[in-house]
Amino acid sequence: MSVRAETDPIAASSVYPSGSRCNHRGHLEIGGCDVVELAAEFGTPAYIYAEADLRVRADAYLAAFSSRTDNFEVLFASKAAPIRAIYEIAREQGLSVDVASGGELHTALAAGFDPERIYLHGNNKTEAELRYAFEVGVGHLILDSFDEIERASALLRAVGKQGQRVMLRLTPGIKPSTHSYIQTGQLDSKFGFGLADGLAARAVGTVQADPTLDLVGLHAHIGSQIFELEPYAKAIEVLAEFAVGLDIELLNIGGGLGIAYLEDDRPPAIEAYVEVKYEALKRNFDPLPRLLVEPGRSLVGNAGVTIYSVGTVKRIPGLRTYVAVDGGMSDNLRPMLYGARYSAALANRIGEPANSTVTIAGMHCESGDVLIRDTELPDPRVGDILVTPATGAYGYSMANNYNGIPRPPVVLCRDGGARLVVRRETFDDLLRRDV
Ligand code: LLP
Repeated sequence: MSVRAETDPIAASSVYPSGSRCNHRGHLEIGGCDVVELAAEFGTPAYIYAEADLRVRADAYLAAFSSRTDNFEVLFASKAAPIRAIYEIAREQGLSVDVASGGELHTALAAGFDPERIYLHGNNKTEAELRYAFEVGVGHLILDSFDEIERASALLRAVGKQGQRVMLRLTPGIKPSTHSYIQTGQLDSKFGFGLADGLAARAVGTVQADPTLDLVGLHAHIGSQIFELEPYAKAIEVLAEFAVGLDIELLNIGGGLGIAYLEDDRPPAIEAYVEVKYEALKRNFDPLPRLLVEPGRSLVGNAGVTIYSVGTVKRIPGLRTYVAVDGGMSDNLRPMLYGARYSAALANRIGEPANSTVTIAGMHCESGDVLIRDTELPDPRVGDILVTPATGAYGYSMANNYNGIPRPPVVLCRDGGARLVVRRETFDDLLRRDV
């Protein structure tokens, strides 16, 4: 390793994709590609992923499990980055996939996933979505409500199918520390069947009495962007108590592992996360069911960055400097929705000292369209290429067309080669569905 790489804060960073660095031109390099050149080639804003980083994180999950057991399955929670090329990478790495809608199911199939390896979620799957799932032979359906049990059962009866493998989504009554919008395991939740309120036990009875359905497992996802590991052990303990006498083949306790958005964030390692879950499984179950995990953010979040161009710099004397970029709440809704914090850097001046405090604003007609309040940058200028790291999860998937802004392209970088996998939307795309 060169001396430069060891002293390069980008190379040492936990928020940028692994392999990122400051290159000899003083530019940010991701997946071997000069980000300033990417901006020139693909335009801004754009979502940039380091393909090797995506693969490394999938491998980390598989390795953590393989050293302990062969009775496991790692599912890519595709809502974090529902991009066909990323589904393909997940499939090539040997992951299964969690889809939360007919649209995600469609994309997973387009990426070549064996329907058997697809798990369909959703708290209100429509009849059309269920029908689609049954037609293509989705391996597992995660049942979320009594109405859905009835709906699924009726559809299966209509096509004369028996024994559809299903799991029950349960809310174990556990509240990890994370934003309330992304807590999901508490009793007061729109998701699943509660243990404490007796609905879960009733759901088991209903499903077991129905020959169209075959109850093979239990599922719980307690929340997202979680840095504590203890709640997972607790959830497994609670589910084990519930599972007594149930003959459970599969146990899925969801995803949720947090990532570093800021340099000081210290999320647990994938290895530690898997260890805690597997140890809790061993302590609480005999025989052991197959353990499923369903990571989204921790597979893709730090593998991606967003690049923008600086368009205006507004200095309000004594108050604040607004640096406006050519995107914002249409490509990254997380700051506005969850108060999520990000950092920024200038890709074209990555080696320069960050000596001014600025606020990064978007270009939408809304004062709340602020990507980062008070961040440190080298004194920014119009035309700089601004990068926000750690936007690989839930950026693309929550993108929208507010103010008629076409959604950004997605570019995968690997060994110095860049591959456009989703093109930029055009103005005509915005009109395409108008009739
Ligand atoms: N499994 C289920 C059933 C889920 O609902 C989720 C996320 C996951 C797995 C993956 O969780 P992860 O490993 O990514 O934490 N839009 C929010 C996140 C919503 C998460 C919804 N469910 C955000 O941007 O933070």
